[in-house]
Amino acid sequence: MNILVIGNGTREDALSWLLANSPSCSALFAAPGNAGTASRGENWSEISATDGKTLAERALEKKIDLVVIGPDAAIAAGVADRIRAAGIAVFGPDRSPGRLESSKIFAKRFMERHGIPTARGRAVHSLEAGRKVLSDWEGGCVVKADGLASGKGVVVAADAQAALATVEEWYGPAGIPGGGSGIILERRLIGRELSFFALGDGATLVPWVSACDYKRALDGDRGPNTGGMGSYTPPEGFPRNYVEIIRERILDPVARGLKAEGERYMGALYCGLMWTDDGPMVIEFNARFGDPEMQAIAPRVRGDFAALLAGAAQGRLDPALIDFTDEACVAVVLTTTEYPIRSTPLGGLPSEFALPDKVLSFWGVSRRNGDVVDTAGGRVLTISALGSSLEQARDRAYEAARDIRAKFGVDAVRYRRDIALSVSPPVEKVSSVT
Ligand code: AMP
Ligand code: GLY
Repeated sequence: MNILVIGNGTREDALSWLLANSPSCSALFAAPGNAGTASRGENWSEISATDGKTLAERALEKKIDLVVIGPDAAIAAGVADRIRAAGIAVFGPDRSPGRLESSKIFAKRFMERHGIPTARGRAVHSLEAGRKVLSDWEGGCVVKADGLASGKGVVVAADAQAALATVEEWYGPAGIPGGGSGIILERRLIGRELSFFALGDGATLVPWVSACDYKRALDGDRGPNTGGMGSYTPPEGFPRNYVEIIRERILDPVARGLKAEGERYMGALYCGLMWTDDGPMVIEFNARFGDPEMQAIAPRVRGDFAALLAGAAQGRLDPALIDFTDEACVAVVLTTTEYPIRSTPLGGLPSEFALPDKVLSFWGVSRRNGDVVDTAGGRVLTISALGSSLEQARDRAYEAARDIRAKFGVDAVRYRRDIALSVSPPVEKVSSVT
């Protein structure tokens, strides 16, 4: 198969690595791609990830058999619709079912219609309505912008007063992150977070794998939210039958709901879950793989990943192709020092560096420039390491992160030091507030 990966981030580098190493892949292309995808195939660096028309034309011209979409912006822009209409198999949902991610109000109403466990929430479209809802609110409140907001659209507030301050800001000069007009006010849930991934082939949603990620910039989950500072898989401390519980309470009802609403969901469904005393509750859906979860998952994947995704994209996913090593994997993200406040471009980095066995690295937004790599800054590189235990994987990842930081410049990049270290308390100790 000729395979095209859409996107230019670290997740897409990890995807391209998996796809290029799949027996059924004959050639790999990426649009626009980055320094990592360039080392595995051809980058169409002049084509934007959201330009469905040009992507469909070039994919036809280059006889692409399978397109794998990485970023949410491409799904929301209808890139899958465009390429599918050209007769090419696409792993990535059409824009309409993709609203499970691109509209939090759509997702909340969908969950309410189909009995999917989620925090109770109210949608508002004005400051007045927000004030009214919050006037008799008790407990913590999470304020969410309706649309895609690159990780800036959620504020967890301790109480109604703090929530109102955010609502006032968003309906004031600051504007609503992502530019929409709606906001969701929802109950704050207490529990442990889990990123759970399912694969959809238009009829079913099949459990794939899960991981935990770290969103805050600083150790101990302090500092501002980021796109993700690290991740690990498999998750620890959840009930032994957690996959069955998620399938029964979430995946099956979602699949039935999509069918009843005439939607065909072909692609990854990322369920952002909070595991509470009452079990898993959905805090968000994403219509794609996670970043940096994918960087920790990729090294554990066995078998023909390209064939697995192609099956899903053709409406006949073969669960027998789902296979993972028993090893643990830890992914640590190296970022420029001022991230996420500022992403300062960082260039002239070595394009190749020796990594020990069981350790891999994936580039963020970047391009090759002769022998060096120039990056956009922010999340520069992710180091992923496998181990027979989480501890061994973490030690390997951090040893490599130290070496690479020394090469890139200790003043140029940093990383969190507690990835996979602060594994949260077991679920029995967690209580839910609703
Ligand atoms: P999201 O952008 O929807 O992933 O939200 C970002 C983060 O906000 C999540 O990873 C959670 O840590 C937190 N969050 C979102 N919804 C809730 C909720 N209902 N209760 C508690 N925390 C939440
Ligand atoms: N890991 C967070 C995300 O991919 O949205």
